[in-house]
Amino acid sequence: MSETLDHSLASKLALDLKTILTPRRLVGLYRLMAGFRWLYLGALVAVTIGAYVRTLFYRLVRHTVDNVLGDPGAANQLPWIAGAFVGLAALEGLFAYMRGTWSAKTAEGITLRLRNYLFDHIQRLPFGFHDYVKTGELIQRSTSDVDAVRRFFADQALGIGRIVALFLVNLAMLVTLDLRLALTSIAVMPVIVAMSYFFFGRVSKAYEAYQEQEAKLSTVLQENLSGVRVVRAFARQDYETDKFDRENLGKYHRGRRLTFMHALYWPLSDVICAAQTVLAMATGASMALRGQITVGTYMAAMGMVVWIIWPIRNLGRLIVNVSTGLVSYQRVADVIAEDREDIDEGTVAPGAAIRGALEFENVGFAYEPRAVLEDPEPKRARSRRGEKAPAKESEPKPAAQGEPAPSVEVLHDITFSCAPGEVVALLGSTGSGKTSIINLLLRFYDYQEGHITLDGIELLDYPRALLRRSIGIVEQEPFLFSRSIRENIAYGVERDVSQEEIEAAARAAAIHAIIVTFPDGYNTIVGEKGVTLSGGQRQRVAIARALLKDPRILVLDDATSSVDTETEELIREALAKLMEGRTTFIVAHRIQSVMAADLILVLDRGRIVQSGTHADLVNQEGLYREIYEIQSRIDAEVQQEVAAEAEPALDGQLV
Ligand SMILES: Nc1ncnc2c1ncn2[C@@H]1O[C@H](COP(=O)(O)OP(=O)(O)OP(=O)(O)O)[C@@H](O)[C@H]1O
Ligand SMILES: [Mg+2]
Repeated sequence: MSETLDHSLASKLALDLKTILTPRRLVGLYRLMAGFRWLYLGALVAVTIGAYVRTLFYRLVRHTVDNVLGDPGAANQLPWIAGAFVGLAALEGLFAYMRGTWSAKTAEGITLRLRNYLFDHIQRLPFGFHDYVKTGELIQRSTSDVDAVRRFFADQALGIGRIVALFLVNLAMLVTLDLRLALTSIAVMPVIVAMSYFFFGRVSKAYEAYQEQEAKLSTVLQENLSGVRVVRAFARQDYETDKFDRENLGKYHRGRRLTFMHALYWPLSDVICAAQTVLAMATGASMALRGQITVGTYMAAMGMVVWIIWPIRNLGRLIVNVSTGLVSYQRVADVIAEDREDIDEGTVAPGAAIRGALEFENVGFAYEPRAVLEDPEPKRARSRRGEKAPAKESEPKPAAQGEPAPSVEVLHDITFSCAPGEVVALLGSTGSGKTSIINLLLRFYDYQEGHITLDGIELLDYPRALLRRSIGIVEQEPFLFSRSIRENIAYGVERDVSQEEIEAAARAAAIHAIIVTFPDGYNTIVGEKGVTLSGGQRQRVAIARALLKDPRILVLDDATSSVDTETEELIREALAKLMEGRTTFIVAHRIQSVMAADLILVLDRGRIVQSGTHADLVNQEGLYREIYEIQSRIDAEVQQEVAAEAEPALDGQLV
């Protein structure tokens, strides 16, 4: 069943959480409550009234003991008193119910919004962010840390309100009973507060370390699951298990340190609170014995003293727990603080038609390493809390907060141009910069030097969304979702697509014939990372996906690397038809695939070392001819061997 949002909640979800960012974490948490503050205030009021009702309970006890029990004439009051006790209990229950539902609504609402926002935000962070942050780290922050923030609102924020209300109401009532008793019942308060403050700083640190370690553990687990094939293939289970055990042990130690803080805090506060209770009781008893207060007052006061000491004791625990909420809030806020990639900025109209004339002019580009998920909290605030800056810690810093390394230029002086509808082929050894050129084209990254123009307009003036809609790309390592093949092919096409269109795209990518052999045909669900499909099949599904988009510019980054020569030939023929009128970029390693291109660029270590058509390049001394000669020789040898061996076998098959 899919749940729907009620209108008022939907409007609250629209808040841009960038507005919560502030170096002061409590202020940030307060801002996070936007839209829910009245509800929260309602819960607080319910708490306060509930606390007041409880004090009425004790006053009623006092009245009963002092005025009714010793007086036979007042016996007729007893049914009324019994009724009042029940009534008060019901009233207290009612307010407890209101507190519970309202605080749950607040906490769950705030977390719902936070989670939605985080997911959306992470979707929009630039590649440069994802290059440096591990997936496990992001998962940790979006789940465990968000949940700690939820607990902050559900338990701690309201808990503090409840404790303060109970404390103040009971204390005020006690003062009306007897001032001296009231004062002795809060004598240890300064000790508890000082102790809580002492633990607060330490628990903060211990918890932060714990969360960081948990993130590491998630990363190991996540990488291990994603890379399960590599692990098995290299028989590295033991190594991976050791690595996991090590991190897990780290978590154990940090978890123990954290629990130790709690374990130490509780008995200490218990002893102090017990002493406090005894002190109040003894004072009260001696006053009652001396006739300074009545027995009823004594009984009522002892009830109230419990509700003064209990909050003091729990206040300490809550202050300590609040630190975990604050740390988690910071870890979430650090992600929110990262700048999104603006996909709509640009002076070109978002609906502009693209013809596909491209010109690169002295383009230079470096991947700029950067520090991500930096804690924006000023150093001063840390030192004030007696914490060391993380850089000085002896433990290694979490990987997510990597220091920027010096950037290295990977593309230098790239200059070429092509008319709409032309085919440009990129050829070059691994790491020569082919994918990087394509990354610039889609504005996954922005170039720092020179100019790229599309239809005569600087590429940086195009909204990224427009470019990505107009360019169909088959990535070097295509990713398929664990959804049906149909959904995977139709991915990214905004209109409704008919089965015919999907099949036509699949045929062009030479994958239709295979899909129909699957038990569920186009409805077959692709396994995690597409493991139920072979590498070549996966590439072809990705080609179909790019073709269905009917893009003006088609980019095939080594799109047929896992496909056999024969199938590649099939795809090439189908593509040749489809590429008509579209500007096409092909990255390939086989000369066969690039021969027909209008322009072939040979790349070496980020530079174009040769360019021209096949005819130009084979007649030149250089890398292209070398590759051509090697590949021709291999092809010839293979052909000979296949011819020699295949004939008898083929005969046999035909019989
Ligand atoms: N996200 C990145 N951050 C930093 N450096 C990168 C990043 N991606 C690639 N590089 C570096 O840029 C250089 C060019 O890489 P690129 O992926 O463009 O090569 P390629 O020609 O596509 O190679 P291949 O044929 O293996 O796909 C390499 O030295 C690589 O280490
Ligand atoms: Mg590449």
